[in-house]
Amino acid sequence: MTKVFVTRHIPEVGLAMLRKRKDLHIVVAPQDKAISRRKLLRSVRGADILLSILTDKIDAAVMDAAGSKLKMIANYAVGFDNIALKEAKRRGIVITNTPGPEISETVAEHVIALMFALAHRIVETDAFSRRGNYHGWGPEMLLGCDVYGTTLGIVGGGAIGSAVAKRMHDGFGVTILYTDIRRNKKLEAETGAKFRTLPQLLKQSDFVSLHVPLLPSTHHMIGMRELKLMKPTAFLINTARGPVIDEAALITALTHHVIAGAGIDVYEHEAHIPRGLRKLKNIILTPHTASATHGARNAISIAVAKNILAFIDGKTPPNAIA
Ligand code: GLV
Repeated sequence: MTKVFVTRHIPEVGLAMLRKRKDLHIVVAPQDKAISRRKLLRSVRGADILLSILTDKIDAAVMDAAGSKLKMIANYAVGFDNIALKEAKRRGIVITNTPGPEISETVAEHVIALMFALAHRIVETDAFSRRGNYHGWGPEMLLGCDVYGTTLGIVGGGAIGSAVAKRMHDGFGVTILYTDIRRNKKLEAETGAKFRTLPQLLKQSDFVSLHVPLLPSTHHMIGMRELKLMKPTAFLINTARGPVIDEAALITALTHHVIAGAGIDVYEHEAHIPRGLRKLKNIILTPHTASATHGARNAISIAVAKNILAFIDGKTPPNAIA
């Protein structure tokens, strides 16, 4: 019997796929919140497969606690910065994540929602209306800015960055710039995207959207120096990982209107959203919900199950991380 320990309940569709297999013993942690470190270390003991979520820190101590039977860590997330990759590799543990077209489209929609909400001041004007401040239409009341005709800079031209670029190019005629460690010819062909260095992209874009994984090389990729390169009228969107932005620098930049605003879904020390960010008017904050639709979360659940099923059948899982 192969024991699969699931650190928190995930949408049932994937669990049902796993439960159909009589050779799997599925144990789902009962609590309806992220598992505590202490409980994780205790409950993972004897697991062959660990199904983790992005808030679980899976390091050497967890692997030690699991014991020598642990052969796979199947992460329920696109990102996998929560897992000590080298440590897992050293032990021969297979790691998988859950990218896919559904999640890319869903996150792209969230990015686009933030862009429009910032440009048209949707959150601010909703609050204004609810407070009873609307006493009559005015030609210069609460003016925002347009999205059409602007330039969008995509930092990280992978699946999600490309989905954002394509929608904004096809739907709104937005000019696309992008930067990455490698060129993406498909993105260039489909959207006319122009490759730029990060400083060039920051200087030339009206919206900058981050789509890089969290790595030592992307940690604090956007700090005060980079924010100062942006136009004072520009907006920054982050749905990637919080530590890609130096959060203290962002607070300073927004306070002093170095940039016009930001749409932020991920935070440097989750789940903590600093008061400095929360009190700003020129920011929209969402609680790491860019992929939080029924469709995307079901797709992730199916993807994680497919990875596990392939692994136990001796195949290379579709999303094995090299
Ligand atoms: C969400 O942030 C994910 O990595 O899936």
